[in-house]
Amino acid sequence: MKKKISLITGITGQDGSILAKFLIKKGYIVHGLKRRSSSFNTQRINDIYQDIHDRNNNLFLHYGDLTDFTSILNIIKKVKPNEIYNLAAQSHVQVSFETPEYTANADALGTLRILEAIKILNLTKKVKFYQASTSEMYGSSPPPQNENTPMHPASPYGAAKLYAHWITKNYRTSYNIFASTGILFNHEGPSRGETFVSRKITMGIANILKGKQKLIYLGNLDAYRDWGDARDYVEAMWKILQLKKPDDFVIATGKSYSVRSFVEIAFLIVGIKIKWRGKGLNEVGFDQKTNKILIKIDKKYFRPQEVDHLRGDYNKAKKTLNWQPKIKFKKMIKDMLDKDLNF
Ligand code: NAP
Ligand code: GDD
Repeated sequence: MKKKISLITGITGQDGSILAKFLIKKGYIVHGLKRRSSSFNTQRINDIYQDIHDRNNNLFLHYGDLTDFTSILNIIKKVKPNEIYNLAAQSHVQVSFETPEYTANADALGTLRILEAIKILNLTKKVKFYQASTSEMYGSSPPPQNENTPMHPASPYGAAKLYAHWITKNYRTSYNIFASTGILFNHEGPSRGETFVSRKITMGIANILKGKQKLIYLGNLDAYRDWGDARDYVEAMWKILQLKKPDDFVIATGKSYSVRSFVEIAFLIVGIKIKWRGKGLNEVGFDQKTNKILIKIDKKYFRPQEVDHLRGDYNKAKKTLNWQPKIKFKKMIKDMLDKDLNF
C-alpha cells in the first residue's frame, strides 16, 4: 500500500518532533519544514534523522519559513502531502508582547499563506490541513472553556492565533478545504522549551540539586493552567485529521493547577517541601527543612496582561474522536524531572 505523506511545519519544536515520531510509527512518510539557523536546531529529531540516500528513509527536511510564501508554496508543490500539520509558530506568550508584529506575521499570516498555497496549487480536495489553535485565544473568558466559549485573547500571540483559527474555518467554508483546528490547552513533557514555566521549574530543580543554581526566579504564581502531556496531544491532532469531516476540537485534561501548585508538586517529587512567606514581589518559597530560599519573584516575568484561568472541557473530543488524556499531571512532571536530573 502507498504510504501516506505528511508535512509538518514546526517539526523541530516540542509537538512537531513528537508528532513526526508518532506518524513514522504509523507508516507515514514525514516531511518537515525547518528554519535556517546558524546553529543546529534539530536536536529534538536527531534520533529519527536518517541519511537521505538511505532507500528506507521516511523523514525529509526542507528549509522554509512561515513568513516566506515562496518557500511554503514550493515545498507543498514538491511534497504533495495528504496531510499538513501547521505547528510552526512564535509560541511564547511573553515574547509576543516584545515581538508583536513578527508574531502576527508568522502565526496569523503564516497560516493564511499555507491555506492560499493549497488553493493556488489546486489541492483543496486532496489535502487535509490541521491548525494548531490554542486555549490562549480564550484569554479572559472564565473556565471551563469549550468549542463554544467566546474568545477574548489577552496577548499578541492569542490575537494572532485567533486570526489563524478563523481564517482556517473561513477557508473550510469558502473553498471546501478539509481544514480542522485543535484548540489545545497547555501541554508539556521532557522536550518542552526551556523558557516555558513547567520546564523552567523542572530544570531549575535539577540544577539546584546538582549545585549549579541557587534558586528559581518566577513571575505570577497564581495563574491556573490545564496542563496535559504532549505525547497524548499529538495523537489527538492525528485523530482530528482522520475524521470524515473537518471540525474544531478542544483538547485538554479538564483539570487545572496554579503555577504555585506546580512548584510545590515538582519539589515534593524530589523530597523537598516548599513553604511560602511574604507577599507580592517580596514573596519567597523556602525549603521547610533547611529554610533555604528556593523561589523568588522577579517582576520581569509578569505579563502586561495575564490569562488567569484555563481549564478545558474536552467532551466533544471524547465523544467524536474517542480521545482522552492518559498521562497524569504528576507522572508528566516526574518524567520531566527524570530527564533534567539525568542530563
Ligand atoms: P515550540 O516548541 O515553540 O515549536 C515551535 C516550532 O515552530 C519550532 O519548530 C520553531 O522552529 C518553528 N517556528 C517558529 N517560527 C517559525 C517560522 N517563522 N517559520 C517556520 N517555523 C517556525 O511550540 P510547541 O509547544 O511545539 O507548539 C506547537 C504549536 O502548537 C505552536 O503553533 C503553538 O503555538 C501551538 N500550541 C502549543 C501549546 C503548548 O502548550 N505547547 C498549546 C496550544 C497551542 P525553531 O525550532 O527553529 O525555533
Ligand atoms: N514562561 C514563564 N516564566 N511563565 C511564568 C513564569 C516564568 O518565569 N512565572 C509565572 N509564569 C506563569 C505565566 O504568567 C503563565 O500564567 C503561566 O506561568 C504559564 O506560562 P507559560 O508556561 O509561558 O505558558 P503560557 O500558558 O503562557 O502559554 C503556553 O500555553 C499556551 C496554551 O494555553 C504556550 O505553550 C503557548 O504556545 C500555548 O498556546
